[in-house]
Amino acid sequence: MKRVKAIYPGSFDPPTNGHLDLIQRGSKIFDELVVAVLGNPEKQPLFSLAERRKMLEALTADFDNVSVDTFDGLMVEYALRVGAGAVLRGIRAISDYEYELQMALMNRKLQPGLETVFMMPAEKYSYLSSRLVREIAQLGGAIDCLVPPLVAQKLREKIDVAHKFSADAARSTLEPAATAPRGKASTVKASKVRASIVKPRKRKS
Ligand code: PNS
Repeated sequence: MKRVKAIYPGSFDPPTNGHLDLIQRGSKIFDELVVAVLGNPEKQPLFSLAERRKMLEALTADFDNVSVDTFDGLMVEYALRVGAGAVLRGIRAISDYEYELQMALMNRKLQPGLETVFMMPAEKYSYLSSRLVREIAQLGGAIDCLVPPLVAQKLREKIDVAHKFSADAARSTLEPAATAPRGKASTVKASKVRASIVKPRKRKS
């Protein structure tokens, strides 16, 4: 009998309960499922590629036929390289469909032998997205019912570090520097410092 290997590509920044739900469903219909994390250098992810990979490895450790890998470049080329015959994508709502259809048809044009299979996560996850999870976490909202406990913990750590870094930087520019001459304290505003942390300036080459 033919064995079907599939890839489940995505950004997973961070992995959510919806992603896990789909991995669970995919692992039942495919013989082998590779969760393929995109390392898009143009996007500035909250979690590094290595962090996302590590989280997904821990979250999928109990699935015998699921593995985690990273890729960059064209997804169809990656699929070909690992010998996958199918691509798994989740559709949460009609609003996902248009983009997913366009991507699936373009991928078919690029690689006609590769089939895209759409699956629906449980409806309780239909409103869930990594982008919203990041936003809620950064604004101090409750994320425990949206992501697995491990991811909630990592999000809290990441955000605590960012807040501490931002507060320390703001304090150090508002307080007179130990080495600065008396009366010449920096007058840079904390908000400006925070903005420069959030949006690092591009390095001139
Ligand atoms: O989780 P996401 O961000 O919705 O996943 C999007 C992803 C990674 C599946 C898509 O951006 C992708 O396949 N990128 C790799 C580059 C590529 O093949 N682009 C052509 C798509 S038709």
